[in-house]
Amino acid sequence: MNAVALRRGESAPAVIQKPMPEPAAGEALVRTLRVGVDGTDREVIGGAHGSFPEGEDHLVLGHEAVGVVEDPNGTRFSASDVVTPTVRRPPEGANGYFERGEPDMAPPDMCLERGIDGAHGFMSEYFTSPAESLVRIPESLAPLGFLVEPLSISEKAIQHAYASRSAFDWRPESALVLGNGPLGLLTLAMLDDYDRTYCVGRRDRPDPTIDIVERLGATYVDSRETPVRAFAVEYEAADLVYEATGHAKHAVETAAALAPGGVGALLGVPESWTFEVDGGDFHKDMVMNNKALVGSVNSGADHFRAAAERLAELPEWFIDALVTRVVGTDDVARAFENDETTIKTAVEFDTR
Ligand code: NAP
Ligand code: BGC
Ligand code: ZN
Repeated sequence: MNAVALRRGESAPAVIQKPMPEPAAGEALVRTLRVGVDGTDREVIGGAHGSFPEGEDHLVLGHEAVGVVEDPNGTRFSASDVVTPTVRRPPEGANGYFERGEPDMAPPDMCLERGIDGAHGFMSEYFTSPAESLVRIPESLAPLGFLVEPLSISEKAIQHAYASRSAFDWRPESALVLGNGPLGLLTLAMLDDYDRTYCVGRRDRPDPTIDIVERLGATYVDSRETPVRAFAVEYEAADLVYEATGHAKHAVETAAALAPGGVGALLGVPESWTFEVDGGDFHKDMVMNNKALVGSVNSGADHFRAAAERLAELPEWFIDALVTRVVGTDDVARAFENDETTIKTAVEFDTR
């Protein structure tokens, strides 16, 4: 079967041939429909994040998948169920995080991530997965099911942000999203119950992401004119800040953009970067204004279920504008391109 993989020593993905996978006991065989591409895939391809499976010369890419159960193999699924797989798998021997059903809370050395870190991903014509790592979604969502994983990332992060504010009567009205990539835009679309929303980018108009930001009713903020540290002065201090740039300074500047009692969720996965910070101001501001910063990575099956419900509610125009390209395996390089006309792309292996 065809698979899209990164081979050791190479800097671009290639289509390779692999044998059909055989489901082990407790696993189902899934026929892949589509697999999405995000900033993490580009970080993996660039060698900034993730790792090859131990002892192997390639990594099958892809962690945002949707497929159809081909062989339930005695699991709770039926043939032709539409499913989306969670990303994390236990390393040698399970551990407490997996036993508790909270693999998303495991630190990096206690989990593998399919398509990212130490385990093959889903960008192949078929894949197998343990039944507990597959989430059934409505058949009507099959063509867009590759958006469930990225939405689930934000379902978790926002859940954790709200949990950190649950000890008092928190009534957020304004939200600031840092980043106009697919994760930032999906999150902005989720925050439609906020009175005022803002989204930070670093692009000139005309730009398709700025069009989406504005059509969602949000204000576009150019970080080249208004750095995040100056946002509160130029616009307003935000109750919720969601960082999805991977720009390391934004982790610290998020605190300055927050209103008293506000919470910042940090999602980006930057490389090492040393810069100067007034640690005293940062520390005092966090304390005296009861601010919170929450780091959040990955997501669990419940977040996938919430994400599938959310996906069904997102406006059609938004999805049409967000998904800029769906390519076949004959044109895979285009799925990983990252020019200014590209927002969300997916590789299509089959249709329902
Ligand atoms: P992406 O496509 O790389 O998007 C990042 C966006 O942020 C880009 O549009 C980029 O603008 C913008 N940006 C970067 N630096 C900026 C700055 N200084 N000022 C303004 N805008 C800036 O990635 P993504 O898929 O949306 O994901 C976003 C980040 O979250 C990545 O770091 C990714 O690794 C991470 N992530 C984390 C999780 C998790 O579980 N924690 C899950 C998914 C993704 P340009 O395009 O104009 O350069
Ligand atoms: C994936 C998550 C993963 C994270 C860190 C994200 O792009 O969506 O599932 O945990 O990267 O590797
Ligand atoms: Zn991702």
